[in-house]
Amino acid sequence: MIKVLHMRRMSSSWAFLLLAIPFLLVSHGFSEPESSADIIAPMAKEEQEALYSVLRDLVGEWWNGPELYPDPCGWTQIQGVSCDLFDGLWYVTSLKIGPVLDNSLECSEQAQFSPLLFQLDHLRSLSFFNCFSSRQRMSIPQSSWEKLSGSLEILEFRSNRGLVGRIPGAIARLSKLESLVIVENAVDGELPVELGKLEHLKRLMLSGNHFAGRIPDSICGSWSELLIMDLSRNSLTGPLPSSLSNLTSLLKLDLSDNHFNGSLPPELGQLKNLTLLDLRNNDFVGGLAQWLNGLTSIENLLLAHNPELGGRLEEIEWGKLRELTALDLSHTSLTGEIPAAMAGLKGLRYIALDGNSLTGGVSPELAALPCLGALYLNGNNLTGRLEFPQEFYRRLGKRFVSWGNLNLCYDAAAKNARAVPYGVARCEQDSRENVSYESVLNAARAGSGDLNGNCGSLGSFVVHGGVIWGVWVMLLVVVFL
Ligand SMILES: *[C@@H]1O[C@H](CO)[C@@H](O)[C@H](O)[C@H]1NC(C)=O
Ligand SMILES: *[C@@H]1O[C@H](CO)[C@@H](O)[C@H](O)[C@H]1NC(C)=O
Ligand SMILES: *[C@@H]1O[C@H](CO)[C@@H](O)[C@H](O)[C@H]1NC(C)=O
Ligand SMILES: *[C@@H]1O[C@H](CO)[C@@H](O)[C@H](O)[C@H]1NC(C)=O
Ligand SMILES: *[C@@H]1O[C@H](CO)[C@@H](O)[C@H](O)[C@H]1NC(C)=O
Repeated sequence: MIKVLHMRRMSSSWAFLLLAIPFLLVSHGFSEPESSADIIAPMAKEEQEALYSVLRDLVGEWWNGPELYPDPCGWTQIQGVSCDLFDGLWYVTSLKIGPVLDNSLECSEQAQFSPLLFQLDHLRSLSFFNCFSSRQRMSIPQSSWEKLSGSLEILEFRSNRGLVGRIPGAIARLSKLESLVIVENAVDGELPVELGKLEHLKRLMLSGNHFAGRIPDSICGSWSELLIMDLSRNSLTGPLPSSLSNLTSLLKLDLSDNHFNGSLPPELGQLKNLTLLDLRNNDFVGGLAQWLNGLTSIENLLLAHNPELGGRLEEIEWGKLRELTALDLSHTSLTGEIPAAMAGLKGLRYIALDGNSLTGGVSPELAALPCLGALYLNGNNLTGRLEFPQEFYRRLGKRFVSWGNLNLCYDAAAKNARAVPYGVARCEQDSRENVSYESVLNAARAGSGDLNGNCGSLGSFVVHGGVIWGVWVMLLVVVFL
């Protein structure tokens, strides 16, 4: 009895502490700005006036910053503006404009870049989201970026349909830049070769604009820290530069939805850490080649809709691509057979080989891929019997697609599973014995590896901005709660 009471007392004092913690934090939070404002109003006049001016040029003349926010880094903070103390004075370190939260500053129809922006020379992060609408035409400032060269690490323009013109070469003066994001705007022209000087770049995302021309040969030379490169959904052309091989840290390369052509440079095979290669919807030629075997970390290999690519699946040593989860080679003019070795890739969840000229049979061993959730074989010249066990048909259902192969037929298992593949004929003679799932599994186990391994999650196929922006929003929400 005594023990129980003691425990109760213990837990109630704990509960008191837990209740008190937020209160302590809150009261501390309230007192802090007041006290720092008491000491001094520690923001240089020019810095403060530059901030008001920059914001007024974006938000509109009506915005009366000095009255609404007399202490913009202290007790009257502005949503989207962050500051830090340097030698006892406040400086603006982050400026984010755009409708993220209810009280975010939003741009007016007449929004423009104030030249005083470049006086805010402690800025580490600068972001314009949904600011310049398609009714305006605004260009990224051509000069003065060198004034932010000692500080700026993140520069983002997202969803500004009125942001036109080129990327100014002067952006390359931002020697500390780690993240350059120009996504979903209307920026055009060629990629300025000067960008190659940004040797601390970790993230280059330029998707969804009107960029054209080639990727300059030398541009990638010193991007040895680059992790993500996304140039998707533009009008870029020409062959890929072999200097892509210098991107030794690269994790994700998305060049999909452009007009790139020529052969894929074998140097790509040196990207040992690459997990995503998305080259879909381009005009590459020259086939699949040995260099692909070098992509030992690859999880998503997406080359679909390169109608003249060509090549044979047998040319790849599938056993080396142990991390592969998604393989999309549809509409790439593949010839030859589907090698049984592909059944050894236990992590495969998605295989699309449709719209090619593949011949030969379909190995029933594919059914033993423990994570497989979709298999597209339609529109080829595959022949023979589909000899998958019933469980395979049941599990994949409509995500097993094999119509458009004139000489392919299914046997009793599909019928028994009530998942007869659409557009495939029934074999005239059913096989002598039913293929049991167990026997296929056992065969695969004897072959290699652990079938019951973790399937993991299918990586998001695209690195488009939305995801990372979403994370930002979440972070912001967390901060403001
Ligand atoms: C790529 O890296 C190699 C070796 O690290 C270097 O010699 C070469 O100059 C780099 N390429 C470019 C275009 O800078
Ligand atoms: C590749 O990834 C490994 C493991 O994450 C890491 O240790 C290595 O530094 C990376 N290589 C490069 C060149 O970034
Ligand atoms: C690639 O496309 C460009 C522009 O469309 C064209 O001029 C060039 O001849 C093409 N190169 C190849 C190898 O097809
Ligand atoms: C399909 O293969 C057969 C023989 O295997 C061949 O005669 C036929 O031309 C091929 N059809 C197509 C469209 O490739
Ligand atoms: C195949 O299995 C089904 C039920 O799973 C059974 O009805 C049928 O008789 C079997 N056929 C043969 C040839 O063993």
